[in-house]
Amino acid sequence: RKLVILISGSGSNLQSFIDATQNGQLNASIEAVICNRPNALGLERAAKAGIPAILLDHTQFDGRESFDAELIQRIDHYQPDLVILAGFMRILTPGFVQHYLGRLLNIHPSLLPKYPGLNTHQRAIDAGDAEAGATVHFVTEELDGGPAIVQARIAITPQDDASSLAKRILAHEHKIYPLAAQWFLEGRLKLANNCAMLDQTAL
Ligand code: GRF
Repeated sequence: RKLVILISGSGSNLQSFIDATQNGQLNASIEAVICNRPNALGLERAAKAGIPAILLDHTQFDGRESFDAELIQRIDHYQPDLVILAGFMRILTPGFVQHYLGRLLNIHPSLLPKYPGLNTHQRAIDAGDAEAGATVHFVTEELDGGPAIVQARIAITPQDDASSLAKRILAHEHKIYPLAAQWFLEGRLKLANNCAMLDQTAL
């Protein structure tokens, strides 16, 4: 089973996939990592693990359509079963999403449907929420709006600021994201009628 992972930054979620493939929790091979920002730490993580690390700088393209067209070509070269967005900070075109519909996952650092978009941790604190978390979901054309697969929930403490909360949530992201990918690759998880269908044998 083959994965391609798209990143923009530190790549700690990418690292959780690398670790999970190495320790046997995730039965897959990461065929390539594609990053849209130069100097991202995630590119080094990929190289260190011996995974082809491709820089595709979006600023070198005319617009979203041409960038996404190139992205599709690069990804399809590896014929992945599943495409993983791991902190990939680009809005994707409808054409891209359609091309990978049902085999494209994202992780978002909030309890969706709360707080799609940016600054999720600060927004949860400002709202006085008791809980925050992260959601793995299928990607559809609606930004951060596709069907949820699994969530991690943690309590927000009075001492929390956005960065302490982000750090604690990230540790949970690293557990739930490879887990969801493994379910998918085992054929236990599907997108059907705009719902995430999880076979009960997954649990
Ligand atoms: C994570 O919080 C993820 O949920 C969000 O971007 C962050 C990426 O972090 N979409 P990293 O690059 O995986 O360390």
